[in-house]
Amino acid sequence: MPRVLLATCAEAAGRDDDEPLLLAALADAGLTAAPADWADPGVDWAAADLVVVRSTWDYAPRRDEFLAWARKVAGETALLNPAEVLEWNTDKRYLGELADAGLPVVPTAWVTGAAELPAALARWDGDLVVKPVVSAGARDTARFPAAERRAAAAFAERILAGGRPVIVQPYLARLDAEGRPAWSTSTAPTATPSARAPCWPVLRSGPGCSPRRRSRPGRRPPRSGPWGTPSWPRSGRAPASSRSTPASTWCPATTAGPGCSRSSSPSRA
Ligand SMILES: Nc1ncnc2c1ncn2[C@@H]1O[C@H](COP(=O)(O)OP(=O)(O)O)[C@@H](O)[C@H]1O
Ligand SMILES: [Mg+2]
Repeated sequence: MPRVLLATCAEAAGRDDDEPLLLAALADAGLTAAPADWADPGVDWAAADLVVVRSTWDYAPRRDEFLAWARKVAGETALLNPAEVLEWNTDKRYLGELADAGLPVVPTAWVTGAAELPAALARWDGDLVVKPVVSAGARDTARFPAAERRAAAAFAERILAGGRPVIVQPYLARLDAEGRPAWSTSTAPTATPSARAPCWPVLRSGPGCSPRRRSRPGRRPPRSGPWGTPSWPRSGRAPASSRSTPASTWCPATTAGPGCSRSSSPSRA
């Protein structure tokens, strides 16, 4: 029976609502499948017939390590998506290539240094979204009202100071309705004290915070590998800050910007 490993991460434990559905569908199709943490050195990836990258939400701060893992796995067994694709699409600069190819993408200003920030932040009226080129689960991603360009600049500068280029985009309200709910629908400008944070914290679209992604204890099947690879969890649980956040509360991005961050800063990522 073909054996499939679904690559995931400790942060995703209990928070990937799609995982049990996929496991059930794969079982129905006659495949033996189990989740496994990509960062767990004890997992025998070569023993799988196929490794599928599913919910590796924590790769952003350790992208090089993640891509090295992908290349290693690809050398041992079949990997989907291929390592070359992961290398390409874990850096949002691929959006520029899609745009160059004539595909519609969200209008985007690319900022590689602080000198480019003023023009990028002046390019659109209204609310802006600022985020790093390498991110996942809305990490280090924040929305700023039109009146808060200085805060947006400070946020972007902190990301740049950490060595990561920045993306500035107009805030597209329709994504709230059509896409994954990463933003709060509240009109409150911030959950943090007004003296601190002019930016609007982002609800993380990944673990814990969004209505569709919150933890639902008891819904997950036991995570043990079907062929002797104890696959979950080996390397700890998600941070307490994201473990028990009710869906309806504000949840700043893991390392949100000036004033918004409760635990860390963008430059640490
Ligand atoms: N320009 C934007 N306008 C509105 N919402 C956005 C915009 N950019 C990002 N978002 C919201 O933030 C989420 C995360 O942004 P995304 O660019 O997909 O980065 P990530 O790689 O972290 O998922 C999106 O799913 C979307 O809900
Ligand atoms: Mg996304």
